[in-house]
Amino acid sequence: MAQKKRILSGMRPTGPLHLGNLLGALANWVKMQDEYDCYFFIADWHSLTTDYENTESIKDYRRQIMLDWLSAGLTPEKSTLFVQSSIKEHAELFLLLSMITPVPWLERNPTYKEQIGALSNKDLSTFGFLGYPVLQAADIIIYRPQGVPVGVDQAPHVEITREIARRFNHLYGQVFPEPETILTQTPRILGTDRRKMSKSYGNAIFLSDSPDEILSKVATMITDPQRARRSDPGNPDICNVFDFHKLYTPADTVRQIETQCRTAAIGCVECKREMARNLAQSLAPIREKRAYYKQRPGMVEEIIAEGNNRARATAQQTMERVREAMQL
Ligand code: TRP
Ligand code: SF4
Repeated sequence: MAQKKRILSGMRPTGPLHLGNLLGALANWVKMQDEYDCYFFIADWHSLTTDYENTESIKDYRRQIMLDWLSAGLTPEKSTLFVQSSIKEHAELFLLLSMITPVPWLERNPTYKEQIGALSNKDLSTFGFLGYPVLQAADIIIYRPQGVPVGVDQAPHVEITREIARRFNHLYGQVFPEPETILTQTPRILGTDRRKMSKSYGNAIFLSDSPDEILSKVATMITDPQRARRSDPGNPDICNVFDFHKLYTPADTVRQIETQCRTAAIGCVECKREMARNLAQSLAPIREKRAYYKQRPGMVEEIIAEGNNRARATAQQTMERVREAMQL
């Protein structure tokens, strides 16, 4: 059999994962495990680029995210699962790449200015924040993957990565393949308040939420705002609850609900209860696996240690080639 193509992707440990993370990335990674030689890592150093003032949660978040990954179906039997800060070679390659990366490439990075504006409560005039894409480039090319599955927000970073890889190869000889962006198609899902689902907005449904927690969050969701009374007909096209139904409720029931909503045959309370039940049911296998791994912290530690060892071996091989190419 031909060798599987290698892909790599990472996630910042920002706390427990929510439905947006699952549908936007994780579910896709789980599927890709069968087709590709996968490297998935927790980008804990990346958290420091914006949250260097608050480091007290990193350890806990790292543990939580790995629990979520394993619960959702990432498995060490198919993928190399590891932690960025455990592979010091990322830092070495970051340093070397920083020597050859022109500052204007970083300054024109669209997320750079955007984030500085959006996170104006933080002082992001740091070297580390500007250099973030160089670290990300090192994360990626140190494993010489052919592809990087990411959401559209990360695509510019993969593009800078390709430019940096090309520049390295041009200066020192061909060491790095230029990785392709594998754009993840994300189904439309919003938070309970109709903004983008985000832990910091308090509008997220987490993979670890119990059926009761799911129900009470769903109960707060905004429906069709025109539908003031139970007897008013509703419009599912503008209802966030209905978007969730489309993902979690069997298709024939969805059609039924659509008609019942438009004719006021179903009320929002009942409609939400049905959706919450289906959502909780679809998350049940994840919740069960989470409970399993949560009771076995030693096992999770071992999985991480083994993943780190595998990743480190690959990273060390690459770094030998890098030093040789650079005559270091
Ligand atoms: N920057 C990514 C994020 O914030 C995380 C990340 C770091 C990453 N290094 C990566 C993603 C390498 C893909 C490949 O989500
Ligand atoms: Fe939305 Fe359901 Fe209420 Fe219709 S009945 S507005 S789909 S929650």
